[in-house]
Amino acid sequence: MKLRHYLQFNDFSRSEYEHLLERTRWIKSQFKHYKPYYPLVDRTLAMIFEKQSTRTRLSFEAGVQQLGGSAIFLSTRDTQLGRGEPIEDTAQVLSRMVDAIMIRSNTHEDLERLAMASAVPVINGLTDKSHPCQILADLLTFEEHLGPVRGRTLAWVGDGNNVCASFIHAAGKFGFKLSIACPTVYHPDLTDLARAAEMQGQVTMTEDPRAAVRGADCVITDTWVSMGDTDHDARLAAFEAYQVDDELMDLAAKDSIFLHCLPAHRGEEVSDAVMDGPRSRIWDEAENRIHAQKSILAWCFEAI
Ligand code: CP
Ligand code: NVA
Repeated sequence: MKLRHYLQFNDFSRSEYEHLLERTRWIKSQFKHYKPYYPLVDRTLAMIFEKQSTRTRLSFEAGVQQLGGSAIFLSTRDTQLGRGEPIEDTAQVLSRMVDAIMIRSNTHEDLERLAMASAVPVINGLTDKSHPCQILADLLTFEEHLGPVRGRTLAWVGDGNNVCASFIHAAGKFGFKLSIACPTVYHPDLTDLARAAEMQGQVTMTEDPRAAVRGADCVITDTWVSMGDTDHDARLAAFEAYQVDDELMDLAAKDSIFLHCLPAHRGEEVSDAVMDGPRSRIWDEAENRIHAQKSILAWCFEAI
């Protein structure tokens, strides 16, 4: 039987995503109306964190509990993984004790090795290359505020990082235009750029944030220095002209919204005024992580 891993945004087809989003909206509404939904009774999720997290940990841990199951937090600092136990061996042991594994790993390769050796579903909770769970919550947020994302324009301003990569994958699946502004030296991964090039103008790249944002329905950014990046000062210098502030937001469409996966570095990639301003939907976006996580968990456990 094929395991229901969720390793990359591309793991689902468009119609599967439509189903997943519809279930996410339903799960959210059940939760908001205090209606019980416990498809994961007696199921246990192990959560491996090789890096820090607030939203991902909380949304998986609280999410699985609210679905009737339980979660166990494992950090590399406190487990034998941190002392060099091979990830494949860890996968074997976890597979005997829990029903699914979520991992936030330093490298995408670690995630893939874990999934290859695991006998239970594995979920990507962020790697150096991608953050698919985040994008599901972001698309849900976009659609709640502005309707179907198909045919709309999303502008990405800043680092061509893991979150940006998952947006490139999503643009192809959901049929939206993605306009990326980033310094050439920090462009997205070459595989993702090649994928973008295949999308015939649907994903565009520029070094000019103003050009990317003009007329966009949604402006998105992320930290200039991701976890694991070591060139802090060089990054701050390279991204200086890429702050999302009110002046930049004013170039976007009149009813445009601002999204950020968080944590934000206020005064760097985004101004306080935009973070706390009328176009910001960041708190809805953060909340939607838990609703999206629940539907991904339910899917992995074949409950939807
Ligand atoms: N957006 C996100 O994944 O946040 P955390 O790093 O807090 O999990
Ligand atoms: N790009 C950021 C995302 C954090 C959720 C990082 O990898 O640190």
